[in-house]
Amino acid sequence: MAELNPGLRLYTPPGNGGAMALRWGGFDLMEVFKAGEITDGAWTSGPLEDFEQALGMETPSGLVVIVGCSHPGVDRLTKAILNVSGYDKAYLVIGGFHGPSQKTLNRLAGMTEFIAPAHCSGDFAKAYMRKTYPEKFVSVKTGSIIEF
Ligand SMILES: [Fe+2]
Repeated sequence: MAELNPGLRLYTPPGNGGAMALRWGGFDLMEVFKAGEITDGAWTSGPLEDFEQALGMETPSGLVVIVGCSHPGVDRLTKAILNVSGYDKAYLVIGGFHGPSQKTLNRLAGMTEFIAPAHCSGDFAKAYMRKTYPEKFVSVKTGSIIEF
């Protein structure tokens, strides 16, 4: 990526183990210490539990929250994005939910219109969301295209 876009800015939680390697790879690294706006219509949750952040992006449909692996909790990451972006509710939360509890999923459902659990979310999360919130559940896999 950095070879194709030299100096591409990368926002990373501080002390990220891969940070130096990425810097050598030609990225323009920016350490993130707290929640805030990155650029017009894009927000970081700030590092939760010191190591993981989520990204919020304004789209024509509303706020889209992209989570990575959700170790601090997909509900907490989404809440942090709502707080910093000023949105009352997200349009979509997508990413790895990391085997969340039913309680976490119910909290998340109250914060967003659509939910797309991916990779590390686990079979339980996907089945639970599909069954309990069919109007919110979006099935995704590698290569899925979502238009806003
Ligand atoms: Fe995960």
